[in-house]
Order: sequence, then C-alpha cells, then structure tokens
Amino acid sequence: MEQYVIKGGVPLSGEVEIGGAKNAALAILAAAIMTDETVTIDNLPDVRDINVLLDAIAGIGAKVERIDSHTVKINGSYIDCLCVDYDSMKKIRASYYLLGALLGKYKEAEVALPGGCNIGSRPMDLHIKGFKALGANVELRNGAVAVEAKELVGTHIYLDKVSVGATINVMMAAVMADGKTTIENAAKEPHVVDVANFLNSMGANIRGAGTDVIRIVGVESLHKTDYSVIPDQIEAAATHGDILVKNVIPKHLEATSAKLLEAGCRIEEFDDAVRVSAAGPLHNTQVTTLPYPGFPTDMQPQMAVVLGIAQGTSTVTESIFENRFKYVDELTRMGADIKVESNVAIINGVDHYMSARVSAPDLRAGAALVIAGLAAEGITVIDDIHFIERGYEEFPEKLSQVGAKIEKVSTEKEIQKFTLKVS
Ligand code: EPZ
Repeated sequence: MEQYVIKGGVPLSGEVEIGGAKNAALAILAAAIMTDETVTIDNLPDVRDINVLLDAIAGIGAKVERIDSHTVKINGSYIDCLCVDYDSMKKIRASYYLLGALLGKYKEAEVALPGGCNIGSRPMDLHIKGFKALGANVELRNGAVAVEAKELVGTHIYLDKVSVGATINVMMAAVMADGKTTIENAAKEPHVVDVANFLNSMGANIRGAGTDVIRIVGVESLHKTDYSVIPDQIEAAATHGDILVKNVIPKHLEATSAKLLEAGCRIEEFDDAVRVSAAGPLHNTQVTTLPYPGFPTDMQPQMAVVLGIAQGTSTVTESIFENRFKYVDELTRMGADIKVESNVAIINGVDHYMSARVSAPDLRAGAALVIAGLAAEGITVIDDIHFIERGYEEFPEKLSQVGAKIEKVSTEKEIQKFTLKVS
C-alpha cells in the first residue's frame, strides 16, 4: 500500500493551479453518452474516480478515446448494453448518473444500487421519485435499480431534500422528455450549473440552473459539443502560509473564503484566482454545512483541521451527511481536542498538531489529514491514500510547488530515506 510522508511545520507560499471539478466532470461524462455524435471534454481532473467512470462508460459499449490525461472524446452511438454492473457501482457511486442519462436517451436502464459510503448512507429515493414522476417504471431487483418508460412526459417535481445527485439525474432524464419539466428545491451547486451548461451546449433547453427552480423543455435529440469542465471549488482548499490559488471562480468559494476570513486569514480575490494568507494566529468561529451557496460539506473536514489549531472554541455542524466526522479520531492522535456530539464537533483549539501515523477514512477527510500533517511539527505518515487520489490530482506534486515537504512512498525504507533527507 502507498502512503504520503510529510515533514510539517513549513509555511507554504507560492502559486498553485486548480484542476477541473471532479463532481461536475463525473456527471458531464455520463451526460456525454446522450448523443450519438462525438463529444469532446477537456479540463478533466486526472483522478481515479474519473478513470473508473470512463471504464464504466466504455463497459456499456460507448466509444471512449483518451486524447490526453485531461481530455476525452466519447461517442454514445456504440452503446450495446443498458446495464451498469455492481463492480462499477462498487468502485464509484457516481455511476448512478448513467441511470438518468440512459433513461433520458433510451428510456431504459439498469444500474446496480450504490453501496453505502464512509460518510453515511447515500439513498437514491429522490432520484427514483423524479424518474417515476416523468413516467418511468422503477423496479429494485437483484441489488439493482431497473428503470424503463414507454415515454417520458415532462412534469413538476419537488425534491423533498436538496440533493445534487437527484437534481442532476432528473435533469438528464428530462432533457428529451415530451414537454416541460420543473424541478423545485433543486441543488444550486456550481457543478449543477456546469452540467446544465454542458447539456445546453448539446442542444438541450434548460433554464434556471443555479437557482432552486430548474425549468426544462424537452428536445428531440442532442448533438455533439466541445466542452471544458469548470475549476474545482473544493480542491482549492488552502493551508497555512501565503498561497495564490489560480484557475478558480472566486464566487464559487465565497462560503469557504468567508469562514477563513472569520478565522483570521487574509483573502484577496482576483478574476480567476484567490490569495489566502495566514500571517497571524487564527481564532475560533462557527461553521454549519449547507447546500450551496452555504458552507460546502466537502470542505467540512479541512475547515475543522484549521480550527483545531485556532485560538478558542469552535463548533462545526454537519447538516448534510450523518457520519462525516470519522477523521476526528485520527486528528485526536495528532493532538486535537475535539468532541463530537450528534452532528456537532466541539473543537477546543490547541497550540499545534503533533506528527503521527494516521489513516485516511475517506476522500475529503484524507485531504484534511494532509493539511494537519503540513501544520504539525515532525514527520507524519498517512495510510490509505487511495481515498485521497480518488479526487485530488497530483496532490503531493501540487503541494510541493508551494514548498511542502511531502512525497508518495510505499515502503518503510522510503519513509526512512525521506526522513533523513528532510532532517
Ligand atoms: C454529491 O453527492 C457529491 N458527490 C458529494 O461529494 C457532496 O458531498 C454532495 O453532493 C453534497 O454536496 C458527487 O457529486 C459525485 P446529495 P450526492 O444527493 O449527490 C440525501 C466528494 O467528497 N439524499 O446532494 O450523493 C443524502 O443522504 C463527495 O466529492 C437523500 O435523502 O449528495 C444527503 O444527506 C462526497 N435521497 C443529502 O441528501 C436521495 O435520493 C445530500 O446528498 C439523494 C440524497
């Protein structure tokens, strides 16, 4: 197994370029099969989840041509199977976007139910409610969701909870339905907007993405397009020091920037960049995760790490997922003073983290532990980094560009070699 080994205590400074948004790219890749013409997509992040979904798309017969590590051409006319197997779903939950895409195009699909996840149960009831409202029959059989419809008819759908996945999946199922569809209480995340823009570039008629009401007028068919994925609002998480984060949309980072400002960071916004610096000591604040434009749940672990070495007592309330504090036990081993009560973490700031050997429990918690390792004095080793590499491209390389002492290793000998080198 591979690990990251980090020599912490080095304030970071310099510039780093942000890659394409993983969660926009996953949905866009699924939507790309909805035309029989060739679609070219670039600014894809070169991360495991993207490559696994491309394998799943090739697995149903679509032609997938990798132009380079950030660009792909997809042609859905070659699709010869409408079933996405459990093996793909087990590897990546976002394969469920193929349900909406295949239903929208072929009026039939079968996708294995996604397993649970390290951050809580991840139901699909709202996705299914939307498909049924459009006229699809939905059947759960052999651990899979099977959907089929003689015709899909536009309708009015109210999503009981704000759900990124359900909003995007229902939007895809509706783009070629007969007539108008309204999705109320829709998610407003930047990646929902990016998927809508992508579908509109293929000839769809979607209005209102980014607000809580999305209006869709069904069209006969979709056509080819060349599209570039938006920058990742989540990857742009900053650490101690003075970092210019380039190729971002500052508006997408507003909730995170506001909280870093409250905690004592300095934030400077430019057209496509944000500069974050933490000259003086940080202090406590209160954070509650909410659907966009609220504070993003995918930034919750990273913010908790920053508050763990801020002066005073902070609270972090996780209102989206029911089990997103698994990193707290690992952070406690690095000296954090955090108590979790129900969905609230009460964080008493400590002077500094201590280096330790820790394990990444999931993607964003793993990134948070890297931030803690960068702040801790001494050598920190992080196991299970496959979680981190699902969503962060060239993480050690990007952090090294801004002065971090971090390497990917796979043996105890390499850890010792790194330790000697940086001592
Ligand atoms: C997407 O997950 C992201 N994943 C998650 O990022 C992100 O944390 C989440 O949106 C919230 O922003 C991808 O885009 C691939 P939801 P998704 O549907 O769509 C409940 C990461 O780290 N719900 O918005 O699965 C659900 O249980 C990942 O990149 C239902 O009850 O999230 C949750 O409590 C982690 N029924 C809430 O809604 C449903 O049918 C929000 O979930 C669907 C969701």
